[in-house]
Amino acid sequence: MNEEVFAGSEALTFDDVLVVPGWSEVLPAEVDISTSIAGIELKVPLVSAAMDTVTESPLAVALARVGGLGILHRNLTVDKQAEQVDRVKRAQSGMISAPISLPPSALLDDAETLMARHRISGVPICEASGRLVGILTNRDIRFCRPDQFDRPVTDFMTSENLVTAPVGTSLEDAVDVLHKYRIEKLPLVDGDGVLRGLITVKDITKRIENPNATLDPDGRLRVGAAIGVADTEERAEALQAAGVDVLVIDTAHGHTQGVVDAVRTIKKSWPDLPVIGGNVVTRAGVEALVEAGADVVKVGVGSGSICTTRIVSGAGMPQMTAIHDCVAVGRELGVPIIADGGVVASGDIVKAFVAGADAVMLGNLLAGVDEAPGDLELVEGAMWKTYRGMGSAGAMRGRASDRYGTGQAVGKHVPEGVEARVRYAGALGDLMGQLVGGLRSGMGYAGAASLDDLRHRSRLVRITGAGLRESHPHDVAVLRDE
Ligand code: XMP
Repeated sequence: MNEEVFAGSEALTFDDVLVVPGWSEVLPAEVDISTSIAGIELKVPLVSAAMDTVTESPLAVALARVGGLGILHRNLTVDKQAEQVDRVKRAQSGMISAPISLPPSALLDDAETLMARHRISGVPICEASGRLVGILTNRDIRFCRPDQFDRPVTDFMTSENLVTAPVGTSLEDAVDVLHKYRIEKLPLVDGDGVLRGLITVKDITKRIENPNATLDPDGRLRVGAAIGVADTEERAEALQAAGVDVLVIDTAHGHTQGVVDAVRTIKKSWPDLPVIGGNVVTRAGVEALVEAGADVVKVGVGSGSICTTRIVSGAGMPQMTAIHDCVAVGRELGVPIIADGGVVASGDIVKAFVAGADAVMLGNLLAGVDEAPGDLELVEGAMWKTYRGMGSAGAMRGRASDRYGTGQAVGKHVPEGVEARVRYAGALGDLMGQLVGGLRSGMGYAGAASLDDLRHRSRLVRITGAGLRESHPHDVAVLRDE
């Protein structure tokens, strides 16, 4: 489909095309927008950019809760990035399989610090053997006086008539027990009384509130993390130990020996850990990464809204052609493609799927939400948030400078991105409603009941500059633009 649109040597981007409205029997509210990348099922086919003004644990948690996937940036030490993974994995759980616990000798002060650091409302108390002897919750310590904080937790914990359940208790049965005893936490113990898990009311509530959440088999939110070519093994080791679900080799030019080697290194040590390789924009680029073992390939060079790669280096590929060409070989090799960069409106998401993408990565569109890092700035009466390229001078003073290899080699950073700001966009959940609404609407116009339909049956048409001008509000003074 659409071969004639992409024929010839001219390359196209989102604004060069429109989706042709087609016969439709589908209602936007009923279309299926689910997708699958690297064995991860996403109810919402959107992934966040691994950028230090976009994805840290709060955004990764919020995005996974609505059905997408966050990719944690790597402009952090290995330990700090692994801690971010841990925070997402601990944000909610079916059953917490390795609950944070304290020994009976711990002081109340230790317990309070631990509970604040991990934002948890209770902690099981276990002997060195792992045997559960009590549980300390906020309720036990609510009215403690300051002079009591150097006393052992055993003075305050609940230990008599402790309600527990055996290992293997289902979530449904746990709900019954939690309700019967009016408790908030249910420790699971084995035959020797050793703590093996914890089920909490909070986790059960989150599950009910977020039916589309992207979950792993243990009911924890899924998360990805970026990794470079400089410290690949050390970082991959720490991230996988923290429970990361997918690694993303995050480089500006993925059709290189360094990236191919990085994919091989990870696949050799952790064959079951999915790896997304990138970024590339050509058939040969996809082939090289898949050959090395990449499970998914990410596509886009110089398309990002904060990128100056094309201006600085003269290299790149307009994004619609890049997606189309890479998808052609991705399909042959059975590997999904993520379209990364250049998406500034929900219509661009629709176009990326028509070009064949399996998921779309967003930086600019997510940088303005509450859950993205950084404070709000008030400028000339409007609210903004900082958004900067990972190749900008500011970001490269951090740890991601190997993303842009060439400047590094001569000992100087050559920035390939800008430091900027984007309009404040409110809560991620509300924004996602708009983006997903736009995608559904596009599928309605195309008559596509699923993303596969959109990919295989929708027609694109090339437009002129006049057509583009007609697409935007024109010949009016816009009073409100939301
Ligand atoms: P959007 O358009 O969503 O693009 O803002 C986000 C993507 O842009 C890439 N990226 C960069 N590319 N210089 C570049 O050439 C940079 O400084 C830079 N920072 C991020 C990245 O692929 C991201 O997902």
